[in-house]
Amino acid sequence: MAVIKIRNTNEVIEGHENVSSFLEKQGVLYEHWEMRKLPETLKEKFVLSDQDKEEILSTYKEEIEDLAERRGYKTWDIVALSDATPNLEDLLKKFENVHTHTEDEVRAITAGHGIFIIKGDDQTGYFDVELEAGDVISVPEGNPHFFTLMEDRQVVAVRLFIETEGWVAHPFEEKEEVNK
Ligand SMILES: [Fe+2]
Repeated sequence: MAVIKIRNTNEVIEGHENVSSFLEKQGVLYEHWEMRKLPETLKEKFVLSDQDKEEILSTYKEEIEDLAERRGYKTWDIVALSDATPNLEDLLKKFENVHTHTEDEVRAITAGHGIFIIKGDDQTGYFDVELEAGDVISVPEGNPHFFTLMEDRQVVAVRLFIETEGWVAHPFEEKEEVNK
């Protein structure tokens, strides 16, 4: 279950109802996939073979196709990050810049954790969404955000795209530094 932390006020939002209604107000899609379906061997595995990736995608085929049908995604893949990832530090530095995309950024976490830091409405400002396995989130098109790992420094996620080019990051300049 995701946990929200609002940066300006240090308010923490927990619990499915509270998290869902907060994210809905901010225009952020938030759903849940059943993690009991995932084979045990894949729940704590962060270096994945092509076969592992196929197994995750086939386990959640129905959920992926349902999302794709509702929201127009045409391709999907798996991303895995951990200390075993070559150039993890460089990748994180890149991910931690505030940016936007020309399509929404949807991620379904299947192992580990990740945080999206998203720019909310004027009153709310930036908030962190701490994600765990089973959480499905979509940052709206054009909405400034960035992503980073949590203390476990490992994550596996399904990514869905309308067009793969839509995922190119466009830097977003903030008046104040928000990513530290
Ligand atoms: Fe992004």
